[in-house]
Amino acid sequence: MNKRVQESAVLVCDGVKKTYHEGKLNVPVLHGVHLAVQPGEQIAIVGESGAGKSTLLHMLGGLDKPTSGVVRVDGVDINRLSENKRSLLRNQKLGFVYQLHHLLPEFTVLENVCMPLLFQTMPIEQVRETAIELLKRVGLEKRMLHKLGEISGGERQRTAIARALVTGPVCLLADEPTGNLDHKTAEKVYQTMLEMNRASNTSLIIVTHDLALAKRMDRQLVLEDGVLKEASLSS
Ligand SMILES: Nc1ncnc2c1ncn2[C@@H]1O[C@H](COP(=O)(O)OP(=O)(O)O)[C@@H](O)[C@H]1O
Ligand SMILES: [Mg+2]
Repeated sequence: MNKRVQESAVLVCDGVKKTYHEGKLNVPVLHGVHLAVQPGEQIAIVGESGAGKSTLLHMLGGLDKPTSGVVRVDGVDINRLSENKRSLLRNQKLGFVYQLHHLLPEFTVLENVCMPLLFQTMPIEQVRETAIELLKRVGLEKRMLHKLGEISGGERQRTAIARALVTGPVCLLADEPTGNLDHKTAEKVYQTMLEMNRASNTSLIIVTHDLALAKRMDRQLVLEDGVLKEASLSS
C-alpha cells in the first residue's frame, strides 16, 4: 500500500489475517486484508454470508485482535495499546452499529444515546444537549423519552446510529445497518448516515447485502476468499 495513502487515512488495515481456533480445528477467515479509509470516504463492503465481513469489522474496530497484521486508527496501532487505552480510542474515534445493536432495553432512547459520552469528561448538561441535538438530526426527538421496548425496529436502528455518532467519531463502522428494515425505513437510516458523513466528514464503512445501497457509496469492495477486492456490482 502506498505510504501517502496510508498516512492520510483515518483507518488502515495492513495485511490483516484472522484464524479462529475451535478445539483442534483452525478456521481461517481473513487471509491478508488491506484497506486505507480516507477522511469522509464512504465504503460499502459486500460478500456472501460467512465470508468474514463481521470478523473484519471487529478487527477494524479493535474489538478482536488479528492473528497477524496491523490496524491503525488515526495513525495509532490499536493492538499495541493496553485494553484501557484501546477502549478510550474506540470511544473517541470510532462509532459502531452492530447487527445486534447492544442497546440497553431498560433505558430510554435519550439515555442510550448519552451513554458513550459518559465515558468522556463532559458536563452532564452538555452530554444531554449533544445527545438531543443528534436525536433531532435522526428525527427521534419525539421518541427520546420512550424506552427501547416502546419504539419500532427502524427507530431502534436510528437510535443505534445516533449513539454511534454522538461522540463525533472519525469513522462509523456499520454491520448490516439496514438489515431487517423495510425499504422506506432503510432509506431513512441510510440518509441519516450520509448526512453525518456530509456534516462532520465522518468516514463510513457499511457492510450490506443491499447492492442498490452499496452502489450509492464512493467505493464498493467485496470480501471474497479472505481478501478485499474492488467489487464490480452489475445491475
Ligand atoms: N468467534 C468465532 N469463533 C469461531 N469461528 C467464528 C467466530 N466468529 C465467526 N466465525 C466463523 O468465521 C466465518 C466468518 O464469519 P463472519 O465474520 O460472521 O461472516 P459474515 O459476517 O461475512 O457473515 C464463519 O465461518 C464463522 O462461522
Ligand atoms: Mg456478519
